[in-house]
Amino acid sequence: KLSNEELKQEIQRLKDKLSVTVVAHFYQRDEVFEIADITGDSLELAMRTQADDAEFVLFCGVGFMGQSVKVLSPEKRVVMPKIACCAMARMIDSLYYDESVKFLNDNGIASENILPITYINSNADVKAKVGEMGGMVCTSSNAKKIITTALKEGKKILFVPDRCLGQNIANQMGLKSMVIGQGGDPKEADIICYDGFCSVHQLFTVEDIEFYRKKYPGIKIATHPECDPAICDASDFVGSTSQLIKYITELPEEQKVAVGTEFNMVNRLRPKNTYILSSTKPECPTMNETTLEDVYLTLKSIEDGAPINEIEVDESTQKWAKIALERMLAL
Ligand code: 13P
Ligand code: SF4
Repeated sequence: KLSNEELKQEIQRLKDKLSVTVVAHFYQRDEVFEIADITGDSLELAMRTQADDAEFVLFCGVGFMGQSVKVLSPEKRVVMPKIACCAMARMIDSLYYDESVKFLNDNGIASENILPITYINSNADVKAKVGEMGGMVCTSSNAKKIITTALKEGKKILFVPDRCLGQNIANQMGLKSMVIGQGGDPKEADIICYDGFCSVHQLFTVEDIEFYRKKYPGIKIATHPECDPAICDASDFVGSTSQLIKYITELPEEQKVAVGTEFNMVNRLRPKNTYILSSTKPECPTMNETTLEDVYLTLKSIEDGAPINEIEVDESTQKWAKIALERMLAL
């Protein structure tokens, strides 16, 4: 078994030799994050890998992210050290999506009056369904802009799979929202949300916020919009991964901040006066599955001419999912 130092040397040797770009999401383990050529949040990674010209993209993240690269650039060969599925993305598939559309239809909203939007945290089959219905993808960085544009069409928005992001954006914009299965009349709502959520961002509670505000008066609370609306309403700042990084790193050094998002990202952000908004370590289990050894073994498999964990998407899914993603990128 190779030590971490030996693994890093081998990874560097293989990166120098092969036509491969290593990409890592901010939530990856530190040692994986450090060896990446491109790092970023999900929107940045989608855009920057599309512009990259290496033959292989080695994607350290969760399944839907590697899939999005393949969908946008089918000519690229995309491999993932671990094909780990984001817990939220796993909550919806094309059948559950169809059921959600049927729920609206049964409540008097015809399909032509629905504009579906899927958070990028969904698998390609759901993105394809959304693309076929004239809808588009959003990320937490651009959700407000996408919804503003979509509303101009005067349709009801079906927002999948994250109920929290959908509700938080609706609250920010003064719109009415509801969650399928939690009561309410969809005819009364502007945004109808699917009942999915992120198990990591559900860990933060209003009690955590009260605890920090009492312990350190004047502390800022910064959270990701995948947190429950009650948490976001009680925060000083709500933003996507990149927006949180900008906000936190630009605070005066002595300003304390408690952050409600994934542990690995927060932990490497700012050495002092930065706290995790939870008594439980909010690590994303699927993001944490990828190890340095996995990265090495995947690069080695490319060198050996038999790449492992290569992402494939069937032609029709690729076509429609790409349309949904490109509608977002065009904005
Ligand atoms: P970003 O879009 O902020 O990168 O978030 C992705 C994600 O999975 C958050 O939990
Ligand atoms: Fe999915 Fe949540 Fe992990 Fe993000 S933090 S990848 S939404 S499970």
